Amino acid sequence: MRLPLPTWQGTVSVEQAIKQRRTTRSFASRALNLNQLSQLLWSASGITEENGYKRAAPSAGALYPMDVYVVVGQHSVLSMNAGIYHYEPGNHQLSEVSKGDLRSSVAKASLSQMWMAEAPITMVITAEYERATVKYGKRGIQYALIEAGHIGQNIFLQAQALGLEAGIVGAFRDEGISDAMDIPSAHEPILLMPVGYPV
Ligand SMILES: Cc1cc2nc3c(=O)[nH]c(=O)nc-3n(C[C@H](O)[C@H](O)[C@H](O)COP(=O)(O)O)c2cc1C
Repeated sequence: MRLPLPTWQGTVSVEQAIKQRRTTRSFASRALNLNQLSQLLWSASGITEENGYKRAAPSAGALYPMDVYVVVGQHSVLSMNAGIYHYEPGNHQLSEVSKGDLRSSVAKASLSQMWMAEAPITMVITAEYERATVKYGKRGIQYALIEAGHIGQNIFLQAQALGLEAGIVGAFRDEGISDAMDIPSAHEPILLMPVGYPV
């Protein structure tokens, strides 16, 4: 599924977004639109050079060991079915991984932080360590975790700039999340970020 093109102009300064950012744990039931989803995914992992492959967040050796998935609830993004989707930066599109509203299963696997299921979407940052350890050995794991932090902060600030808010969740059972989402076992979940309108 092709996403609308992202925009490079906003109305909130980076300073305002940093100042206002907070971890949010309650969300309005209002749906997002495809432009907002597109913008969030682009800020997480989108390609930011013309005719190139470099992305919004830095990556050690430009190896890009990270993948971003999005958990979409029922009636949560206009013109989109509920499901799990994988973001493909190269052509700025999403591919469907699983069908159905899996927000509650994901929240349960996150030590039952059920507030997560209120958010229309949750962005899931995963690492395929092998893509970094092949060059850097054990240090590649450290690099991938650092990259997850960069991606997470981009999502936080982009959400803020769109008038949305985000949460961040590191407390979850790895296998529980992988099973609920049905993602490849090599893509290890690192961070979960529910995003939506504030209440
Ligand atoms: C790696 C990491 C994991 C976190 N995991 C959770 C979590 O599982 N649940 C939660 O409610 N908040 C979680 N948080 C959010 C922190 O509690 C929050 O960032 C901290 O209280 C500071 O508040 P602020 O983000 O609003 O500035 C996590 C934050 C980080 C950076």
